[in-house]
Amino acid sequence: MFEFTAQKLVYGGDALGYHQGRTVLVPRALPGERVAAEEVRTAKGVVHARPLRVLVASPDRVDPPCPYFGRCGGCQYQHLGADLQTAYKRDILRETLRRLGRITWDRDIPLHAASSWQYRNQAELKVGRLGDGKVALGFFAAESHHLIPIDACLILSPRLDAILGELRRADWLSDLGGWSEIELAADDRDEEVRMALRAHRDPAGRPATQDGEQVAVKCLALPGVVSVAVERGRELRVFGKPSISYAAGDFVYQVSPGSFFQASRFLLAELAAAVTSEGSQSGAPPGGALALDLYAGVGLFTLPLARRFDRVIGVEANARSAADLAANAAAHRLSNIRAVPESAFDFLRRFAQTEPDLVVLDPPRAGVGFPSLKLLAGLAPKGIHYVSCHPPTLARDLAFLIERGYQLDSVELFDFFPHTFHIESVTRLSR
Ligand SMILES: C[S@@+](CC[C@H](N)C(=O)[O-])C[C@H]1O[C@@H](n2cnc3c(N)ncnc32)[C@H](O)[C@@H]1O
Repeated sequence: MFEFTAQKLVYGGDALGYHQGRTVLVPRALPGERVAAEEVRTAKGVVHARPLRVLVASPDRVDPPCPYFGRCGGCQYQHLGADLQTAYKRDILRETLRRLGRITWDRDIPLHAASSWQYRNQAELKVGRLGDGKVALGFFAAESHHLIPIDACLILSPRLDAILGELRRADWLSDLGGWSEIELAADDRDEEVRMALRAHRDPAGRPATQDGEQVAVKCLALPGVVSVAVERGRELRVFGKPSISYAAGDFVYQVSPGSFFQASRFLLAELAAAVTSEGSQSGAPPGGALALDLYAGVGLFTLPLARRFDRVIGVEANARSAADLAANAAAHRLSNIRAVPESAFDFLRRFAQTEPDLVVLDPPRAGVGFPSLKLLAGLAPKGIHYVSCHPPTLARDLAFLIERGYQLDSVELFDFFPHTFHIESVTRLSR
């Protein structure tokens, strides 16, 4: 056991301080707090510790409303008011750009925030067995596969939380024991829900769970559930509706099992407007001959872009998302959209037309990476709008683009996931 004073919050949710010349990271502490902690492990010279007691509390500390906070790995910041969380997230974003990208951003970072509770329209519930062999449903503890049984979750939409409450009843748990994960996804009105049941795998990686038709049909009787996908390895069978519809801004998006869609329900139209530049912080809305949307999903940005550009190419590596993107373009009669079902890298390798007016990048946590960025820089787009869910890879990718002659025009923060460490941002570059 040792005592130390937390100095600042860092990306990932921990507080950082020093003890006997070593850097210490501890969860659930706030800057200025004196904390008694216990070392858990040391990695790359950094001590990762568990907080035992707060000896001197910060005036900013609040009581976490969720009884699972500190055990469940879902939330990191419930001991801090939502407004202060966003202020810290801004600092962390700025600091990450500086430290990892050597980018000094002293200008404002406008903040987009909404209700800090009941915002998640998607959840992946874990199914497992406790020490006594009983089946339980919940979420994993932080950085582990240790299941924490959960009765209710304050950040889930009311509909999804009600389904969680239902599924954790004994008669359901006995049906769910054969599955490893249950995905829930609600529509924009929090009325219709799509479920996916994922099979356990045997040691050779093959699906170990049998069939699933009976339990899928039973799931369709849950309030709001209209579609149930049963996933066994590569096999996917869907019962009920083949997809759900999600309205955001002026568009309605078909989202099928296996397709990506944003997991927070309050700021979607605002995000799409910022990315496609209605309501831009940086002046004139873009428009022109050609826009590329390189990690397009089911077309959240591709569709609004098609109102502003003569042609829009949406590139999406996941075949199911790409099929939804094509269907969504057709349903809105946007014949100027081309949906390309391949990776951004493969697309860029072949694409010959230089100087697109705008390229939208919205990669997964791994970021875009140098091979694709090199090809992209070769096309010399006039503007780039980068939507990021992971500041470290954003900093790396922006540094590359700035070195290739782009300037950073604006940085905005979307607090999609209050009480968690996640930081979503939209940055705009031009040359
Ligand atoms: C963060 S999501 C964004 C999707 C969409 N822009 C949205 O907001 O709904 C990232 C998307 O990129 C896709 N993806 C992942 N790697 C990719 C790659 N190398 N090339 C193209 N798309 C990729 C994923 O399937 C996913 O749909």
